[in-house]
Amino acid sequence: MSGLRKLLLLAILALAACGTATREERTLFDRLGGTSGIERIVAGLLWEIAEDPLVLPLFANTDIERFRTKLAEQLCEIADGPCRYSGDSMAETHRHLAITPAQFNSLVDDLIRAMEREGVTVGAQNALLQRLARMYPDIVAG
Ligand code: HEM
Repeated sequence: MSGLRKLLLLAILALAACGTATREERTLFDRLGGTSGIERIVAGLLWEIAEDPLVLPLFANTDIERFRTKLAEQLCEIADGPCRYSGDSMAETHRHLAITPAQFNSLVDDLIRAMEREGVTVGAQNALLQRLARMYPDIVAG
């Protein structure tokens, strides 16, 4: 192999390695579309909740702007983004709502539809849902 071809081959290999490393280092936050992606997911979730008769009544007395901001902040933090959640604890927030397992599942379906519409990959969707599932005991009554 000529010197030039060897050099080219090395350059291609180095670029390929670089590409792989970048892909692996992407945080879930990046895979959700960063701050603007998460804001769009939360906005989409609000539309879904508005159409979800099982869940909508729970939001009757909610300050929706606060909910929108705090949820986006929290999704950003648990996806390893650059935010710090500044809202109330999950147990405190949800205890008085007496949320049932069916209502929890319905909200998860709403979230999945909102992520689908934003073009979030199934892998990133599942990664986020897995992290949210850890909060289940604090959110569902029982
Ligand atoms: C893992 C899943 C969930 C997460 C991460 C989450 C997150 C949050 C956050 C960050 C807030 C705002 C807290 C604050 O104002 O300081 C909130 C409020 C609220 N969440 Fe959730 N939530 C989840 C599941 C659910 C489910 C399943 C329901 C109902 C089916 C629900 C209903 C509500 C309601 C109604 C409020 C407003 C409470 C109020 O107005 O006082 N949440 N949630």
